[in-house]
Amino acid sequence: MSSTLQQAKENLIKNGFLNIEIDKNINLFEEIKRLKKEKNAIILGHYYQVPAIQDLSDYVGDSLGLAQEAAKTDADLILFAGVHFMAETAKMLNPDKKVLLPDLNAGCSLANSAPADIFKSFKAQHPNHVVVSYVNSSAELKTMTDICCTSSNAVHVINSIPKDKGIIFAPDRNLGAYLIKETGRDMILWHGVCQVHEMFSWEKIMATMAEHPGADFIAHPECEPHVLEIADFVGSTSQLLKYVKNTDKKEFVVATEPGILYKMQKDSPEKKLISAPPTTQCACNECPFMKMNTVEKLYLALKYELPEVILEQSVIDEGRVCIDRMLEISKKAGL
Ligand code: 13P
Ligand code: SF4
Repeated sequence: MSSTLQQAKENLIKNGFLNIEIDKNINLFEEIKRLKKEKNAIILGHYYQVPAIQDLSDYVGDSLGLAQEAAKTDADLILFAGVHFMAETAKMLNPDKKVLLPDLNAGCSLANSAPADIFKSFKAQHPNHVVVSYVNSSAELKTMTDICCTSSNAVHVINSIPKDKGIIFAPDRNLGAYLIKETGRDMILWHGVCQVHEMFSWEKIMATMAEHPGADFIAHPECEPHVLEIADFVGSTSQLLKYVKNTDKKEFVVATEPGILYKMQKDSPEKKLISAPPTTQCACNECPFMKMNTVEKLYLALKYELPEVILEQSVIDEGRVCIDRMLEISKKAGL
């Protein structure tokens, strides 16, 4: 092993990502495309990634689309341009493949809000309940989950559970509250939140809507209930994209991570898109985890095949069951 790589591996253990100086003369886009071909690799990217990474991805989608794509890929190597729980899901679906995440620190506040050991005791207090977990959760949490869901299929997942069964929903209390309203089911909620979607300001959204009276206000279900209350449409990232593309309205105020505006504007160049304002002046409605990925980190990950997402076989075996059930329900629902 070269000393550069040895040093980079030590850095990786310390920092969560490879830290190697890149030759300035390299065209990173061309190199990434070449390496992808050479290694039969696929890049799966989420809509919250920066435009350059979305352009480099072979598939860009929401959490459900990314899981479906991971389940059917025949690539040998999966480079995940998203966050840790998404890469873990891809690994569970592809235990024999290498799954890379450019920066292992790219976590998720929702996944972090439900530590597996604490959840285990919580679950024990509610025996005979079906556990539904949002895909934004750790692999360990999935081992204690009956059915997984994403914001695209959550209503179908809840409706698939017999009416006489109690339900625990984790970890997103906002999505959970939205599902209680949509399905009429009573559920016990874990109190996790997405730090990005909690930042939208109801007052500032109302003020923005007053300035744009012709606009529709659209929101991701991870937003707080009082924000969802005033939305003309609530949906996952892919559902928000479809809504903007297919309605006649010309202006939209969008309450989700602003990375989505790139694809939205590409799909509907003639429409005006306004990012919903957060409570403060900062750019805190940008997901700091999603934005940890850079083109440079993607290049290094692909070149050195590091950092790799590693899971214990028992976690893969037990955790995968709830993902398979979710994919089955989605297929039946035509999603
Ligand atoms: P989607 O599944 O709607 O893309 O949401 C993923 C996510 O992390 C939202 O914050
Ligand atoms: Fe997690 Fe929120 Fe970032 Fe989505 S936007 S990855 S839910 S922290």
